[in-house]
Amino acid sequence: MKKLAFLLSLMALCLFSTPANASTKSGSFKVGENTFLLNNKPFVVKAAEVHYPRIPREYWEQRIQMCKALGMNTLCIYIFWNSHEQQEGVFDFTGNNDIRAFVQLAQKNGMWVIVRPGPYVCAEWEMGGLPWWLLKKKDIRLREQDPYFMERLEIFEKKVGEQLGDLTIEKGGPIIMVQVENEYGSYGEDKPYISAVRDIIRKSGFDKVELFQCDWSSNFTKNGLDDLTWTMNFGTGANIDNEFKKLGELRPNSPKMCSEFWSGWFDKWGGRHETRGAEAMVDGISQMLDRGISFSLYMTHGGTNWGHWAGANSPGFAPDVTSYDYDAPINEAGQTTDKFWKLRKAMEKYSGDFDPATGKWGAPKKLPAVPKEYPTIAVPKFELKEFAPIVYGCGGLETSADQNDLTFEYNGLGWGSMLYSVGLPEVTGQSVLSFESHDYAQVFVNDKFIGKIDRVKHENSLILPATKKGDQLLILVEGMGRINFGRAIKDFKGIVGEVKMKATVDGHDVSYTLKGWEKWCIDDDYKWAVRALEGASGKRVDEYHEGFAKETKALGTRGYYRGYFNLKKTGDTFLNLENWGKGQVYVNGHAIGRHWYIGPQQTLYVPGCWLKKGKNEVIVLDVMGPRGEKTIEGLQKPIIDKLNLDRPQTHRLEGQKIDLSGEKPVKEGEFAAGNGWQEVKFDKPVSGRYVCIEALNSHMNREYCCIAEWYMLGADGTRLSREPWQVAYCDDEDIESGNKTADKIFDLQESTYWSTNRGVKYPHHLVIDLGQDQTFTGFQYLPRVEAGAPESIKQYRIYVKSSLFKGL
Ligand code: GLA
Repeated sequence: MKKLAFLLSLMALCLFSTPANASTKSGSFKVGENTFLLNNKPFVVKAAEVHYPRIPREYWEQRIQMCKALGMNTLCIYIFWNSHEQQEGVFDFTGNNDIRAFVQLAQKNGMWVIVRPGPYVCAEWEMGGLPWWLLKKKDIRLREQDPYFMERLEIFEKKVGEQLGDLTIEKGGPIIMVQVENEYGSYGEDKPYISAVRDIIRKSGFDKVELFQCDWSSNFTKNGLDDLTWTMNFGTGANIDNEFKKLGELRPNSPKMCSEFWSGWFDKWGGRHETRGAEAMVDGISQMLDRGISFSLYMTHGGTNWGHWAGANSPGFAPDVTSYDYDAPINEAGQTTDKFWKLRKAMEKYSGDFDPATGKWGAPKKLPAVPKEYPTIAVPKFELKEFAPIVYGCGGLETSADQNDLTFEYNGLGWGSMLYSVGLPEVTGQSVLSFESHDYAQVFVNDKFIGKIDRVKHENSLILPATKKGDQLLILVEGMGRINFGRAIKDFKGIVGEVKMKATVDGHDVSYTLKGWEKWCIDDDYKWAVRALEGASGKRVDEYHEGFAKETKALGTRGYYRGYFNLKKTGDTFLNLENWGKGQVYVNGHAIGRHWYIGPQQTLYVPGCWLKKGKNEVIVLDVMGPRGEKTIEGLQKPIIDKLNLDRPQTHRLEGQKIDLSGEKPVKEGEFAAGNGWQEVKFDKPVSGRYVCIEALNSHMNREYCCIAEWYMLGADGTRLSREPWQVAYCDDEDIESGNKTADKIFDLQESTYWSTNRGVKYPHHLVIDLGQDQTFTGFQYLPRVEAGAPESIKQYRIYVKSSLFKGL
C-alpha cells in the first residue's frame, strides 16, 4: 500500500515537473527562498545549452532527446539576432531559424526552456549576435543607449516576442526564464542601459515570466538590477563555493544558479584544440547538485558554426574555427562521448526531486533511453575539376561611390572578401606598405604576389619592391568572423583607414597615402559562387569580367572549385580539406563553413540530412588556392586537433633568454595564497611599454607557474585597455594539453590561464608589450579559479621599460 502511494505521488510529481502537460494548462516558475519554485514546488534547473542555428533542423529532436537522456530537464537557448535579421528590416523565423518550432519541440519532448534573447549573446558567434549592418552607422555605440541601436533592438525583441511570447509557462508554454543582455560586466557598467533592455524585453511579450541576468562572480554587482535574478557563469574546475560567496552575502535567500557551466571550450584558428577533463566537469556538476544549485551546461551539445557564423575572440584577433564541438558531452555530430556516459551516470543520482529542507535528493528515476545516433559514412576521394578564378566572384554588389571608403560595411558587404586596386607612385628603392587589414590580406604588384598581412599575427605592413608610376597594387582581403567579445565587437572588415606607402627618396622620408581605389565585393554566397563557375565555363557571359585580365593572372589559383560525388546511402561525414588553403565550402547549396590549413580543424562536418542519394555538389572558394591535389574525401571521424603551423605557438624564439641583470624592479612582493583578484599599487607611477612579470616561486612549492588574468592600472587607478597587448616573450608555455599559452592572461576569460610545463624550474618570465608607452600606478592579478588556486605565484618582481629587455 505504502509502495502504491509512493508510486502515485511520484507519478503526480512527474506530471508536474515536465512541461509536456503544460501545453494545455498554465503553470508558474518563481524565485522562492533559496530555491526556484515550479508550480510552487522546489525545483532545480538542470539545463542543457544547445543552439538551434548550430544544428540542422532535421536533427533538432534527436539532440533534444540526447540532452534529456543525460538527465537534463531544461534547454537553454540564445536567440541570434543577426541570423534572423540578416538585412535591416527583413526578418526570418523559418527553417533553421524557426525558434517557435524549436521551443515547441522542446515542450513536446518534455523539456522546459530558458531563452536568452540578447540582444548581444557572445557565444563565439559573428559579432556576438549583433547584425553587421549596424556598423553602417559609423559612430554607432553598440550595447549602449545609442538611439539607433536601441530602436533596432526594440524592433527585433518585439519580433522575438511575437514568436515566443505566448510560450511562457504562465501561458501554457515551456519557457520558464528569460535572460536580459549577456555578461554585461565584462563590457561595461551601465545600469540605465540594462534597465532599458529589461523594459524592452518585458514589453515584447515576456511580461510575467521570470527575468534574470548572468555575469561572473567577480563583476556581477556592476550592473545587477534589484528586480532581476542574478546567476553566475563559470567553468569546469571552478571553486563552486567561492563562485557563489558574494551572491550569498548580498542576497542570502536567492536560489543559486550557474547559468553557464563550461563543459569545454572553443577553438581558434592556429591554436591547440581545447579540452577539459570529464571527471572535473562531472565533479563540478555533482558538487552543484549536492547543494541543490541549478545549472546550465554550456555547451551540452555545441554543434557547428556553419558558413560565416563563427565569431572571433579578442584582445587581439583570434577567429574561431567552424566546429563548435566545444569538447561537450554530445559531440559535434550528435554522438555520445566518454563525457556523456560519465555525466549520465552521475545525473542518475540526481534524477529524483530535491528537498531544500533536508538538502537531499529523492529516489532516483530511470533516465530516458539514449536515442539512436545518425550513421556516418566515408566518401571516397573525388576531384574538384571545375575552376573559376576568384575575380569571377567580383561585382555582386554595388560598392560605395566614395573611392576611399574601404571597409566592407561602407560598401554594403556583410561577409566575404573585397578586392582593391590602385595605381602606385614611382619609388626607386624599396618602400613600406602599411594598412590595417581585417582580416587576411594578400598583396600583389602587377601580377606578382608580394606577401600577406594577417591580422591574427598583428601584422600591418610589408616591404614593396621598387615601383614605377602606374604599377598596379592589388589587395585581396578576406574577412573572417567579427569579434564577439569585449569592446572590440565594433569590428569593421576589409581595409580599415588609409593605406600608406613610406619610402626614402633622395635621402628624405616620403609618405604617400594611396587614393583613388577601385574595389569589388566578393559576396560569401552560394548563388554567387555558382554564377562565377558558370561565367568561367562559358555558360553565361559576363562582359564585366573582360577587363579583369591582369587581376586574373595575379590571383592565379585563388578561386572557386567544384566537384561531385555519388552516394548510394547518405550519412554524416567529415570532409577533409587538408590539401586546401583557406576559404569557404558549400555542399549542395549549404554553406558548411570556413577551412584553413593551419588547423586545428582540418575536416568540416556535413550532416547526412544535407546529402542525397546520387550526385552531390561541393564548391570550395579558396582565397589562397589549393596547396596540393584538388581532391577531397569524406571521413567517418573528424580531425579537429591537427595544427599545421609554420612557426611554433610559443612566444620565445630559439636561443632567446631574457637578461634582467642591472634592471631594477619597480615592485617586488608576495601574493596571497588562494583564489580571487589581488591588486598591487606601485609606490609611485611608472611609465613604459614593456612589462616583465618575474615569478620566483609558487605557493605550492611546485614548478608550474600559472596566471589566469592580468591588468595594468593607469594613472587614474583604473584598468588600461588590453586591446593592443601582445606577448613579447615568455620563457615557457604549455602548448600540449589544451590551450595554456601566455596570451591567456589577457583573453578576458577567467577560466583560461597561462601555464608553464611540468618540471621547468622557476624563475619564470612573461613580458607584455602594451603597444606604446603608458603610465601605470599598479596592477591586478588573478590566479587560477580552481579550488585553492593551483600553481599560484608566491614571490614576484615587476620590471617596466620603454625598450625591450636585454636578450630579446
Ligand atoms: C561566456 C558567454 C558565452 C560564451 C562563453 C564561452 O560565458 O556568455 O556566450 O561565449 O563565454 O564559450
